Amino acid sequence: MSAFLRVSNLHVYFDTPQGVVRANNGVNLEARPGESLGIMGESGCGKTVLFLSMLRLQQPGRITAGSITLDGRDITQLPERDVERIRGRDIALVPQNQATALNPAYTVREQLAEAIVVRERGGSLGSVLGRRGSRMDGEALEEVRRVFRELGFADDRLMGRLLQSYPHELSGGMRQRVLIAMALLLRPRVLIADEPTTALDRATRAQSLAMLRRLNGALTMLVVSHDLDAIASTCGRVAVMYAGRIVESGPAGEVLSDPRHPYSRLLISAQRRTRGEPLPTMFADTANLVDVPPGCSFHPICPEVMPQCLVHEPAESKVGGVRVACHLYDGEAAPC
Ligand SMILES: Nc1ncnc2c1ncn2[C@@H]1O[C@H](COP(=O)(O)OP(=O)(O)OP(=O)(O)O)[C@@H](O)[C@H]1O
Ligand SMILES: [Mg+2]
Repeated sequence: MSAFLRVSNLHVYFDTPQGVVRANNGVNLEARPGESLGIMGESGCGKTVLFLSMLRLQQPGRITAGSITLDGRDITQLPERDVERIRGRDIALVPQNQATALNPAYTVREQLAEAIVVRERGGSLGSVLGRRGSRMDGEALEEVRRVFRELGFADDRLMGRLLQSYPHELSGGMRQRVLIAMALLLRPRVLIADEPTTALDRATRAQSLAMLRRLNGALTMLVVSHDLDAIASTCGRVAVMYAGRIVESGPAGEVLSDPRHPYSRLLISAQRRTRGEPLPTMFADTANLVDVPPGCSFHPICPEVMPQCLVHEPAESKVGGVRVACHLYDGEAAPC
């Protein structure tokens, strides 16, 4: 099947007093219908900016070049009114910070009801809350139960309690579940889970990923996680991001067991050591997104640096089933 979500040469810049931050600096990425793509990369490499750009919510960041196409339509060029229709209903984002992503003033029931209203009548999440329209009738309640059952939460009594709760009364794992349910109620074609396991303990983390696994095949998923086992069991393909670019992508089994890019090798071995805990940054300090070095941006710290790495930015090549942007493979690989 061909890609229906495709990011090509995406550049997203932020103007700051320190200079221009190149948060996305030539991202290439694609996802096919129904596939799960894991995205790995240290803090600050540009994952969240990439997702926000897919919803055109990257401001004050500027999309300066490149495209993001969904079914061939370039989201970066659409009028705002059309992008509003894409948000939530085509592409839904489960945001990174579950502790603050829900509205503290409304019950879970009201917030889930809002997702259904937004889906049926349009608008955006957060704009409908508190209006009469966001009550939940019997049919909507049954749909909510069904979504929670899909997520592995089947106890009706607990469900009743959950719906009456305010966000602060819930555990991190439960808030995560509510956020995923809310996204699913929008019936998106693409679900982005931006670090669905951060700030959760190991057991809850496993539960949260098992939830996503249940959705495999039903919709396209982009999942950021530091947990290699979780990525391996949830995602068919993996992309590794460094300093605003995807440096390697391919089948999860191949990339995780035999990473080709020197950065992927370091990242994956470090993540094996931390067993799924978010990494203390390895290179983020050196991956300066303001003064991006010429050539390959990883060259200042690459253990396999060669003279051409200082001068030429590596193009992507195909090595086996994997795409990799590294001069090590210049001679032996077919350009993509
Ligand atoms: N509003 C902003 N203004 C200036 N710089 C920004 C802004 N938002 C993001 N950035 C910068 O863009 C870069 C990428 O940030 P992003 O949040 O996408 O990283 P990330 O990969 O999601 O990191 P994490 O794993 O910590 O969530 C960082 O250098 C960040 O400082
Ligand atoms: Mg992030």
